[in-house]
Amino acid sequence: MNKYTVLLGSSLVAIAAMAFMANSISGKQAERESINTSPVVKAEGFESKNEEWARYFPRQYDSWKQTRQNDKIDDMLQKNPQLVILWAGYGFSKDYNAPRGHFYALQSNINTLRTGGPTGPATGPMPTACWTCKSPDVPRVMEEEGENEYFTGKWARIGDQIVNPIGCADCHDSKTANLKISRPYLLRALEASGTNLDEITHQDMRSLVCAQCHVEYYFKDTKYKDAEGKEQLAKVVTLPWAEGLNGEAMETYYNGYGFSDWTHSISKTPMLKAQHPGYELYKTGIHAQRGVSCADCHMPYKQEGAVKFSDHHITSPLDNIATTCLTCHRESEEEFRSVVKRKYDRKEQLLKIALDNTAKAHLEAGKAWEAGATEAEMAEVLEFIRSGQWLLDYSIASHGSFYHAPEETLRLLSVANEKAQQARLKLVTILGKHNVFDYVAPDFSTKEKAQEIAGVNLPQLVDEKLEFKKTLLEEWNQTAVQEGRLNLESRKGMSDKSSYAK
Ligand code: HEC
Ligand code: HEC
Ligand code: HEC
Ligand code: HEC
Repeated sequence: MNKYTVLLGSSLVAIAAMAFMANSISGKQAERESINTSPVVKAEGFESKNEEWARYFPRQYDSWKQTRQNDKIDDMLQKNPQLVILWAGYGFSKDYNAPRGHFYALQSNINTLRTGGPTGPATGPMPTACWTCKSPDVPRVMEEEGENEYFTGKWARIGDQIVNPIGCADCHDSKTANLKISRPYLLRALEASGTNLDEITHQDMRSLVCAQCHVEYYFKDTKYKDAEGKEQLAKVVTLPWAEGLNGEAMETYYNGYGFSDWTHSISKTPMLKAQHPGYELYKTGIHAQRGVSCADCHMPYKQEGAVKFSDHHITSPLDNIATTCLTCHRESEEEFRSVVKRKYDRKEQLLKIALDNTAKAHLEAGKAWEAGATEAEMAEVLEFIRSGQWLLDYSIASHGSFYHAPEETLRLLSVANEKAQQARLKLVTILGKHNVFDYVAPDFSTKEKAQEIAGVNLPQLVDEKLEFKKTLLEEWNQTAVQEGRLNLESRKGMSDKSSYAK
C-alpha cells in the first residue's frame, strides 16, 4: 500500500465535501435554492420519462444522457469461450455481453437471445422479473399493479409498459428529487441482513441506490391471492443476504433453501448462477471500508461556471482518472495506470486457469456419466463443481469486481480453482474404474466450438429474435407512444447493436 500516497481515508470524503463547499458556496447555494423553489417533477408516484426531468435539472440530465456514448458490444462468450461450457443448458450460454451505458439497458435486455422471441403476452422463456433492473417504469408499474402482481407472468406481458431506460426515478424521489430506494426488495434484504433502516446515512445512499440493481438475486416463488381471490404465483426478485453478503454466506443460504438455477446439461450438476454481486463484493474491499461510495468513483463532481454538480455520466472511472481516482491517490496518471494494469493482469491469468479447469471438470463428468458412472460415485464431484463454479462466477460476474475488491476476487478465484481441481482428480479415478483412460476434453477454444458442444442452436435463436423485433416489439412501442408512456424523440439517433448483428 505504500506505493499509494493516499490522504487519510476516513476523513477523505468530508475533506472533499468541505473543499468543494468553500470553493463555490454561492454557486451551490444558488443551485440548492433553484432545486428547492423549482416545481416538483411529479407530486405523486413516479415520473418515469427522463426528459420530463430535464427542464428542472438540465446539467444532471445532459450528463445522464451521455451514458448513451457506450453502446459497444463486448461479447464475453467470445472473450472467454469456457463460459459457454460452464453454462451449458442455461440461457447465458446463448448470449452474454459486458455492461454498456445505462441508456442502453432496455435495448440490451430486448436484444439478448436470453429473452427469446415471444409472439404474445404469455410466451417466451423469461418472467416479468427480467425487467426489474432496466427502467424507472418498473417501480411505477409496481405501484400501479401491486408488487406481487408486477412479478406475475411472462416478460412479454408488460413489454408495452417498460419503455424508458434506467433514469432519474430509479434513484430519485419524483417529488423532492432526494435520493430514494425505489425497489422494495432491497429494503427487505437490508433488514434480513441486520441493517437498521433508520441508521442509513446519506453517504450509504450514494451506494445503496446502485445496490438496487448491482447485486446478486434470485426469483423466489411466492404464492398470493389476486383481487378476484384467485391463487397466483409471483417470481419475486429476492436478495440472498440473510446469512451474510460474501460468497460463502450466500452459498449457505442457497444450499439451505435447496435452490438451483438449472441442471447442467453435460455434467448434470444442480447449478447456481451468480448474477452481478457488485455491491456485495465492493463491501469487502478497502474503499468501502474507508467510506468511499460508488458515486465517489462513478459520479465525480463536475464544475460548470460557479455550479458544481454530480456527473451523471456513469461509466468506467478509468476513462477519467484525473477526476476520479486521482482526487485521492496522488501519483501521476501514467504511474497509476501502470500499477492498476499490472494488478489486473494477475487476475486475468488466474481467471483463465480457473475457467479452463471448471470447463474441463464439466466435460470429464459428462464422459463419466456416458461411461456408466453411478450417482453415488459422482455425488462428491458434483458438489465440488457446484460450489467451485458458484465462487468463480461470484468473483467475476459484476465485471468491476477486481477494482472494487482485488484481494477478495483473487481469493475466490483460488478457492474456485482448487474445487475444480478436486473434482477433476476424483474424475480420473471414476473414469479409470469405468475403463476410460485417455479421455481428452473436446476443443472449446472459440465461442462457436463451445456452443456446438453445449448444443446451442444460434441461427434459430437469432431468427426468432429478429421476427419478434419486427412484430411484437413494434406493437409495444406503438402502444406505449399512444398511451403517453414513451416519447420516441428520446430514442432519436440511438444505435441498435447486439452480439449477433454488430
Ligand atoms: C443510478 C442512480 C441515479 C440516477 C439514474 C440519477 N441520479 Fe441524480 N444523483 C444520484 C446520486 C448518487 C447523486 C448524489 C447525491 C448526493 O450525494 O447528494 C445524485 C445527485 C443529483 C442531484 C443533486 C445535485 C447534484 O448534482 O449532486 C440532482 C438534482 C439529480 N441527481 C438529478 C437527477 C436527474 C434529473 C436524473 C435523470 C436525468 C438523475 N439524477 C439520475 C444518483 C442518480
Ligand atoms: C435500475 C437498475 C440500475 C441502477 C439503479 C444502477 N444500475 Fe448500473 N447498470 C444497470 C444495468 C442493467 C447495466 C447494463 C446496461 C447494458 O448493458 O445495457 C448497468 C451498467 C452500469 C455500468 C457500465 C457502464 C459502462 O459504460 O460500461 C456501470 C459502471 C454502472 N452501471 C454503475 C452504476 C452505479 C455506480 C450506480 C449507482 C450510482 C448504478 N449503476 C445504478 C442497472 C442499474
Ligand atoms: C474518495 C477517495 C478515493 C478514491 C476516489 C479512490 N480511492 Fe483508491 N483508495 C482510497 C483509500 C482511502 C484507500 C486505502 C488506503 C489504506 O487504507 O491503506 C485506497 C486504496 C486503493 C488501492 C490499494 C488497496 C487494494 O485493495 O489494492 C488501490 C489499488 C486503489 N485504491 C485504486 C483506486 C482506483 C483504481 C481508483 C479510481 C477508480 C481509486 N482507488 C479511487 C481512496 C480512494
Ligand atoms: C474505488 C473506486 C470505485 C468504487 C468505490 C466503485 N467502483 Fe465500480 N469500477 C471502478 C473501476 C476502476 C472499474 C473498472 C472499469 C473498467 O474496467 O474500465 C469499475 C467497474 C464497474 C462496473 C463494470 C463496468 C464495465 O463496463 O465493465 C460496474 C457495473 C461498477 N463498477 C459498479 C459499481 C458499483 C455498483 C459500486 C458501488 C457498490 C462501485 N462500482 C464502486 C471503480 C470503482
